Amino acid sequence: MAIKAVRGVKDVFPPEIARWQRLEGTARRILEPAGYGEIRLPIFERTELFARGIGDATDIVQKEMYTFEDRSGDSLTLRPEGTASVVRAYLEHGMTVWPKPVRLYYLGPMFRHERPQAGRYRQFYQIGAELLGADDPVVDAEVIALLMEVFRSLGLADRLELLLNSIGDAQCRPAYRERLAGYLRLRLKDLCEECRDRVERNPLRVLDCKKPGCAPVIREAPEITHHLCGDCRSHFERVQEYLGALAVGYTLAPRLVRGLDYYTRTTFEVLSRDLGAQNAVAAGGRYDGLAEALDGPRTPGIGFAVGVERVVSLLSEREGDSPLKLLLIPLGEEALRALLPVWLAIHRRGLPAEIASGGRKLKAELERANRMRASHVVIVGAEELGTKSALLREMKSGTQQQIPLDGLHDKLMEKLAGEGKAR
Ligand code: HAM
Repeated sequence: MAIKAVRGVKDVFPPEIARWQRLEGTARRILEPAGYGEIRLPIFERTELFARGIGDATDIVQKEMYTFEDRSGDSLTLRPEGTASVVRAYLEHGMTVWPKPVRLYYLGPMFRHERPQAGRYRQFYQIGAELLGADDPVVDAEVIALLMEVFRSLGLADRLELLLNSIGDAQCRPAYRERLAGYLRLRLKDLCEECRDRVERNPLRVLDCKKPGCAPVIREAPEITHHLCGDCRSHFERVQEYLGALAVGYTLAPRLVRGLDYYTRTTFEVLSRDLGAQNAVAAGGRYDGLAEALDGPRTPGIGFAVGVERVVSLLSEREGDSPLKLLLIPLGEEALRALLPVWLAIHRRGLPAEIASGGRKLKAELERANRMRASHVVIVGAEELGTKSALLREMKSGTQQQIPLDGLHDKLMEKLAGEGKAR
């Protein structure tokens, strides 16, 4: 039995990779002009970073981390997300003294040992952005607007819904948490087993339960937005005003809680109407206490992460995604030697081209050209060598023309670049 990839991971290769590249390119194109610089973070960190950053009581830390002891006996963890690492790097490299706010973005794989299903992987990719050192509500609106710009640019805006909530801060959340726990204790027998467990440990997570049995309890639960302190309420109102000014549409979701403990105030999620159970394509929020939880100075921050696989699955393959491709077909050794420098010259000028090895029959090569969706082929056989020419064939129409071998690459470039532009 040949070795297979492990459960919950996937290979990405052509043609699907074109959609990954489109999403990554779009995110860079939207974020960089808005002042976000790329940060490349390590794939593994000290386990303690995530335990303290994401929170000991969360599902991620309790059940989902890939944690291992390395050969020096240190406990390390494959990163389950990027925000804790960004804040760690921010503190470690003295970015606290950079002009604020500091805007960073990252892309790369994350690891969570969840039960694999459609849209849920154990290694998955995120594109994330973080804005550090500002707690003005206008930056919440900025971050959310840029996220939605990525989707708009990809033509996905109509198929997505932005959910918005505020979950308060250290001032008002403890009281709400108690109130919610009090309510849940009264409804304990109506809750699923997991939620019963959560009532004392992490009652807000009950609001996130998808089991139908818990739905009525959740529906009648007290809403956090009714229990925000004055500062959190006015922050949230201004976020909404600025989103209005930016014409970013959203739905208020008072029961939106997030699976990571570092969140304060603004939280949001982008849902797709076209995906199944794993329909969150991006999520994020404010984390004003995270830097302090990592022993740094108070550093408010807000950010988001896009689930790359989920967004890619919404992108359809675009007509014309396949670039203009040229296959050079030499028939025999001498023809191969004549075409090799032509191939390299074309390649240097950036036109996608491949060259056959010269050892196969014309018919087989033409079939291959069809399979690779080449738009043109160039054929050189004994006859062409005799007349010092090459045959350029347009695959779709089958029309052919003779071109002198001398200066062939220039003529090919002229012809094909012209057609490329016209496409
Ligand atoms: P998160 O909600 O855990 O937030 O993940 C963000 C997105 O990553 C999800 O909405 C989903 O699209 C994708 N995702 C999560 N788990 C999986 C999985 N197992 N398979 C496939 N896709 C997945 C965070 O990670 C925060 N760090 C976001 C953030 C940034 N908050 C502030 N700044």
